[in-house]
Amino acid sequence: MTSVAAGQAGAQPDQIQILFHEIDRPGLASLDVYRDLGGYAMLKRALTEMTPEAVLAELQASGVRGRGGAGFAMGKKASFLPKGDMDKYLVCNADESEPGTFKDRELMQKTPHTLIEGLAISAYAVGANRAYIYIRGEYALQADVLEDALIEAKAAGYVGERIFGSDFSLELWVHRGAGAYICGEETALLDSLEGKRGNPRLKPPFPAINGLYGGPTLINNVETLMNAPHILKMGGAEFAKIGTETSTGTKVVSVSGCVRRPGNYEVVLGTPSRHIIEGLAGGAPEGRSIKAWFPGGSSAPVLPGTDEMLDLPYDFDSLAKAGSMLGSGAIIVIDDSIPIVDVALKTAKFYRHESCGKCTPCREGTNWTVKMLERVETGEATPMDLDIMASVCEQMMGNCLCVLADAMAMPIGSMIKHFREEFEAHIEAARERNGLGIAMPDTVNRGAHAGPEDLLGEPAYAGAAEAH
Ligand SMILES: Cc1cc2nc3c(=O)[nH]c(=O)nc-3n(C[C@H](O)[C@H](O)[C@H](O)COP(=O)(O)O)c2cc1C
Ligand code: SF4
Repeated sequence: MTSVAAGQAGAQPDQIQILFHEIDRPGLASLDVYRDLGGYAMLKRALTEMTPEAVLAELQASGVRGRGGAGFAMGKKASFLPKGDMDKYLVCNADESEPGTFKDRELMQKTPHTLIEGLAISAYAVGANRAYIYIRGEYALQADVLEDALIEAKAAGYVGERIFGSDFSLELWVHRGAGAYICGEETALLDSLEGKRGNPRLKPPFPAINGLYGGPTLINNVETLMNAPHILKMGGAEFAKIGTETSTGTKVVSVSGCVRRPGNYEVVLGTPSRHIIEGLAGGAPEGRSIKAWFPGGSSAPVLPGTDEMLDLPYDFDSLAKAGSMLGSGAIIVIDDSIPIVDVALKTAKFYRHESCGKCTPCREGTNWTVKMLERVETGEATPMDLDIMASVCEQMMGNCLCVLADAMAMPIGSMIKHFREEFEAHIEAARERNGLGIAMPDTVNRGAHAGPEDLLGEPAYAGAAEAH
């Protein structure tokens, strides 16, 4: 297992590197090199010196929160699984489909044994004897790397029957998905793993009680599970001292978009966002300034590129207080050369495409939003349409089976909130360009086909219905 070190390349001297320490060591993906660096020692300690309850207590003491999106405390979730001899499962979510997110890919490719070790430790803590790594279909190389590592780990006795001579046995499979974003949602993932179409399930019951094949199941993200060996090595209480009180540890942040050095950077939670965007990723290209940024993947509400926002500590609570979220830890930077309408349209189209279609607000809301943004794009919309769109987004949130609906509504709603003037200017410019005349802000606009009823002020929803 790799250990903690300060001062890695690309980081400030004050940055602690946990998951990325030694990440570029040649051959780290092989068992020999991983073991030379102390790999599997923490699994051995857990199985030969600690009870499952003691391991669970360390995970809880660490305060580590899920790195897949929701940020729920890992140890707490693990503690929800019932005790007893029933079949229990551990599932690693390696679907990584959130636009802008590519950290699990690098972690799995470069240090697959850290994931296998973290998974085995976590499985022991909750009494799961069967485990799966559900990896997105597009990650063929990473799946191959994981499969090779698994063969090595099995041959060495780290996965299989009576590991390290203990009573604990673990079967582990790598399962390849087929490229659906919704299969990253934990219950859709479980359906997909069971061989069904990946549709989200109604919650409760939560997977911890009724998950894979109806059994208690712990589902965690790749990065979350990879922290487990490090937590045991440091001790949960020591791990909890890294970061902030409620966002402990480090985070591997994927930075993309309009920056000079896109890539994955590991930072201590609570690091100023500006240090990640401008210090590590090099900031906006020459002559450009940051207009907006998604702090946590494309599902997160965007924040403006103001000093106040860029100075926000990069942690779960600070970003939530500022009206956004840390999500999957993926920063997407938008500079002043990119029209916000383009960003909104691309985002909405992605979610429309990926909606499973089960819930009306999500199926219809994503579709309406795309259609209305297309009207904004061509200048056929009026400022009132922006209000309708904001209201559609509001009504989508919290009203569906899963949060894919919110994942579109939040960024679009935030773009309208922060960049309304730019949307309005875009409409005006497009109207002029397309010869559509002057916008009527207090009526429903039907562009070139406007009839007298529009000028009399037909109710807004009629225009919205037509847009659909
Ligand atoms: C539409 C949707 C897509 C998601 N995609 C992923 C994903 O690709 N990877 C992931 O780890 N979590 C994803 N999640 C979050 C999972 O449902 C779940 O919260 C997570 O796997 C739990 O692990 P964690 O507690 O370690 O974060 C997604 C959620 C939603 C609603
Ligand atoms: S919110 Fe959307 S993706 Fe989620 S279950 Fe409903 S329709 Fe499907």
